[in-house]
Amino acid sequence: MPADLQADHVGKIYGGQVAVRDLSFTVERGSFFSILGPSGCGKTTLLRMIAGFLAPDSGQIHIGGQPMNGVPPNRRPVNMVFQHLALFPMMSVGENVGYGLARRGVAKAEIAKKVGDMLARVSLPGMEKKRVDQLSGGQRQRVAIARSLVLEPTLLLLDEPLGALDLKLREHMKVELKQLQAAFGTTFVYITHDQSEALVLSDHVAVMNAGSFEQVGTPQALYYQPQTPFVAGFVGSNNRIAAKASAASASDGLASFVTDQGLTMRARAVGAIAAGQKIEAFVRPEAVSLARVASELPADHPAHTGQVESILFDGANSAALLRETASRTEFRIALPQTGRFADLKIGETVSFSFDPQQAVCFAAKA
Ligand SMILES: Nc1ncnc2c1ncn2[C@@H]1O[C@H](COP(=O)(O)OP(=O)(O)OP(=O)(O)O)[C@@H](O)[C@H]1O
Ligand SMILES: [Mg+2]
Repeated sequence: MPADLQADHVGKIYGGQVAVRDLSFTVERGSFFSILGPSGCGKTTLLRMIAGFLAPDSGQIHIGGQPMNGVPPNRRPVNMVFQHLALFPMMSVGENVGYGLARRGVAKAEIAKKVGDMLARVSLPGMEKKRVDQLSGGQRQRVAIARSLVLEPTLLLLDEPLGALDLKLREHMKVELKQLQAAFGTTFVYITHDQSEALVLSDHVAVMNAGSFEQVGTPQALYYQPQTPFVAGFVGSNNRIAAKASAASASDGLASFVTDQGLTMRARAVGAIAAGQKIEAFVRPEAVSLARVASELPADHPAHTGQVESILFDGANSAALLRETASRTEFRIALPQTGRFADLKIGETVSFSFDPQQAVCFAAKA
């Protein structure tokens, strides 16, 4: 069975500037595939080429095994939910959802049935007659998704569909979207600059930077085995530390290095690292253990001491910023959710350590 989406060496240049660079990837049937990247990295450009609104300058796109070059958007088995959703404000909810079917010439009675079924499936049963401006932001978003799903596309393309919603609603819609996708089994290609959305929703995530995919993998692989400094810095939060390797990476995969401020540390080397080479190391705030006395830390990892500079209280996501005593290297450290450090004070001296296998380092680009 062919993949639902296959891109081969797809590229797009705007006035001499590369927006999408020689991209090749495959999206399997029924999966939730996200493209995660910062603003301007080329996400919408790529999605518009898949949808057919924009012709690639190079390469080929196949959908369901069929070549798509030269096929107009309305002839592709694809639907798109836009960044700034575009419901028809003068039409009722039912008319919005049935619009595509009516354009296809489907009989009125059948449209009414399909629209009714679809509204029930997105938890808006019996809402056909409501006007769009009588709906909440989350309800509108569900209408926009229903309007696309009712056409039974092979691929549903979603361009930051939750971007306009407030945080609470976005959290709620994340769960709904994942459940909808699982229930329908439609292949979703979802673009976002929000790493939490991408991690929570997706079977596979492509991390995009400056027109290219840096890494494609499961959310767990991106988080635990980042292959590039960009991915390590963009997915999850991370302490980024500039350093110089003191020796080539050892047989256990660990490299020893001295930070620019003079702290000696070790981390798992990704790729070859030579003695004396400049490197970038990444230590996750949640990989660091904190203790008031060093003897409480796991004995098998090097312990450091530091002074608390600020406390960032954010419920379960609370963290402390501290500086290592001798080198003044700054670390962000997650505070345990038990509340054990709820009384931590600025200026306090604490001990911390981390498992070097849980930190990564890369040779810095020259
Ligand atoms: N029609 C256009 N003409 C010229 N340049 C464009 C055009 N559309 C996009 N670009 C440029 O191409 C690059 C990629 O834009 P794109 O809209 O694909 O980014 P994006 O990843 O979707 O960003 P955002 O997260 O802000 O929506 C940007 O540098 C943008 O300025
Ligand atoms: Mg965009």
